[in-house]
Amino acid sequence: PLVPTAELIDRARGTGRGVAAFNVITLEHAEAVARGAQAAGAAAVLQVSENAVRFHGGELAPLAAAIAEVARGAQAELSLHLDHVVSAGLLHRAAEAGFSSVMFDASKLPYAENVAATAAAVRWGHAHGVWVEAELGRVGGKAGDAPLDAHAPGVRTDPVEAAAYVAETGVDALAVAVGSTHAMVERTAALDHELIARLRESVPVPLVLHGSSGVPDAEIARAVAAGMVKINVGTALNTAFTGAVREYLAAHPAAVDPRTYLAPAREAVAGTVERFLRVVAGA
Ligand code: G3H
Ligand code: ZN
Repeated sequence: PLVPTAELIDRARGTGRGVAAFNVITLEHAEAVARGAQAAGAAAVLQVSENAVRFHGGELAPLAAAIAEVARGAQAELSLHLDHVVSAGLLHRAAEAGFSSVMFDASKLPYAENVAATAAAVRWGHAHGVWVEAELGRVGGKAGDAPLDAHAPGVRTDPVEAAAYVAETGVDALAVAVGSTHAMVERTAALDHELIARLRESVPVPLVLHGSSGVPDAEIARAVAAGMVKINVGTALNTAFTGAVREYLAAHPAAVDPRTYLAPAREAVAGTVERFLRVVAGA
């Protein structure tokens, strides 16, 4: 069934278990998340990034409708989340498209502008029943600093600034930079567990780990046990998907029907989803 993201997050908080959020690009990704979640006996978040919306021509509604139908028909509890939203125009279409949560990403802006834009996004979200996650991307946050990617290697979220940011913006969850980096294919990232513990103490809302594909299972499990709640996984699904397609086409160079290679791709993604859920949700 389709459930609100806030319900999954609230239920997981304080239990030492996390909620895995998987990035969806194609219908097969959504189907794979539903299958993987069912196999693991766990709930999951289906998330669509602004980038993925752009890939589908900038139209949110058809993609959202298809994914929502997958969630409604699934045995596992699944929620819909709009990820890395940069444009306010897209943000304002989230509620009508069926998304119960969004990640508003003003992390490239200087601190004061990030706060102002995110606070406005939160006001809109809360007026429309939408849970809002945001990211503090300028560690240090001094005026005149060059914008930083919060998940660039070496960049870290400052716990004191993070607490002020949450208070000033009213966000429901905070994405933090603790050692992970987006789009890693190898799982070699080392998390700063001492920083995670300090953030957990100073930040009153659930913490979100981005770039989890590059983080080894043991590191994810330790972060979740320490109170990291939402664990975002994207690239690992695509590594599985594309690897299966490549393997199929290498063995069947005359293949024509996309279903012949999309079926193994979907199975590979479902297996990856199930494995992440066993680590994140303790399923
Ligand atoms: O918001 C999406 C996640 O941060 C995914 O990151 O593709 O590196 O797993 P990843
Ligand atoms: Zn991310």
